[in-house]
Amino acid sequence: MSRYCKRFFQQQQAFTEFHRRKPGQNVIMRRIFSAPNGSALYPDTYRPGSRPKRDIMSQYLVNESIEDYAFIHTGEEPPLLQELIDKTNENMGWPQKLSGRLVGRTLKMLSAIHQPKTALEIGMFTGYSALSIAEGMPEDGKLICCETNPRAIDFAKTFYARSEHGHKIDVIFGKALDTIRELDLELDFTFIDADKRNYLNYYEEVKAMTRVGGLIILDNVLWSGKVVQPESEIDDILVETNRRIAQDPDVENVFLTVRDGLNVVRKIR
Ligand SMILES: C[S@@+](CC[C@H](N)C(=O)[O-])C[C@H]1O[C@@H](n2cnc3c(N)ncnc32)[C@H](O)[C@@H]1O
Repeated sequence: MSRYCKRFFQQQQAFTEFHRRKPGQNVIMRRIFSAPNGSALYPDTYRPGSRPKRDIMSQYLVNESIEDYAFIHTGEEPPLLQELIDKTNENMGWPQKLSGRLVGRTLKMLSAIHQPKTALEIGMFTGYSALSIAEGMPEDGKLICCETNPRAIDFAKTFYARSEHGHKIDVIFGKALDTIRELDLELDFTFIDADKRNYLNYYEEVKAMTRVGGLIILDNVLWSGKVVQPESEIDDILVETNRRIAQDPDVENVFLTVRDGLNVVRKIR
């Protein structure tokens, strides 16, 4: 077994162990994930400055033990979602794209409180966040998911077929900006989690489609902390998106330091 394969195998085991941990059980991931230059985890694709996300990742924006404490004291996702995490880790490249428990349970909580009838997700991947949102939606609610990866779509659909909430989810293949420009509906709830280059475009387009009182939730708004020291064009887009939201008189928002940052925006006029 090559050094990388061994690392990869350890990574899969560690993901599973980490997601199965219970209160009082502290699984330290850093030892497994961190090579001196990060290259052990992503030998072909590692870019300096790029970082895995929270829950299953080694780089922590919030103090690591505090983040662990919050994780293990947050309600567990249903068994089907735990299985989805395991299967994503086993079968999909870049499993760290999956948002994980802290974001997923936050979405479920907001959806359950808000009871959206029409919802949108930009960037579905294997369906973890989609099923989390759908779990909180009313029986006649509809969540439209935009995704460009056919393999992720096939994967997610196998879980939707098994979920009691799967019937609430429709998937549209294609670039999200094209998809949403074709949609003719008023949105109650949107989760934006793809293609950071278009974050500001997504926000503006979705805001125009959102009813007064509707929610728009943006993931990764801390962008691994790079928003406080932007260096690249994409860093600047995240900074500008956050600035525009904070200064937008049409909305109120709360910028949560959950995992890689979650901006919860409510349209007020
Ligand atoms: C971070 S992942 C989404 C994770 C998912 N929301 C979750 O929490 O489990 C981003 C996804 O967006 C998809 N994506 C990237 N660019 C896109 C685009 N322009 N339109 C739609 N989906 C896109 C990627 O294929 C990827 O699966």
